[in-house]
Amino acid sequence: MNSSKSLLLFLSLGSLLGAQTAPSPLVTQKCAPCHGPDLNGVGGVFPSLLSSKVVKQGGLDAVVKFITYGSPPDSQSLVKMPAKGGHLDLTDEQIKQIAEEVIEHAVAYKPAKVSPN
Ligand code: HEC
Repeated sequence: MNSSKSLLLFLSLGSLLGAQTAPSPLVTQKCAPCHGPDLNGVGGVFPSLLSSKVVKQGGLDAVVKFITYGSPPDSQSLVKMPAKGGHLDLTDEQIKQIAEEVIEHAVAYKPAKVSPN
């Protein structure tokens, strides 16, 4: 198999998808069911992780904390996030890895242009 050809295919697929890397299997399994396959939120109920203030500006510790404990006590959200998204088998190491990845996706995310009105 010609590896430069498959690399090319991979690259052009990537540009079709807006050059954003897809979430890893871990994030897809543990976070995407609520936050959407692209982590960009679902139905105004599950917030986008790509444009999330916590993810974009909170730093690693804040994201790790949110994942570990779920919704904070002062959450105004109609729907709360359970601790670890309900996946109590996640280790601290996995949570850190997930947090780092989610931050990476959020940093790389360029929101689609919206009209100024
Ligand atoms: C069972 C559904 C569910 C799963 C699974 C889930 N979340 Fe959430 N998540 C939510 C809901 C609902 C909120 C809004 C909670 C709130 O604001 O109190 C939320 C909020 C968040 C926020 C804060 C966003 C913001 O800006 O307010 C972060 C960060 C987050 N989730 C990360 C994750 C990560 C990472 C995973 C995967 C380990 C994950 N979530 C899995 C339901 C889920």
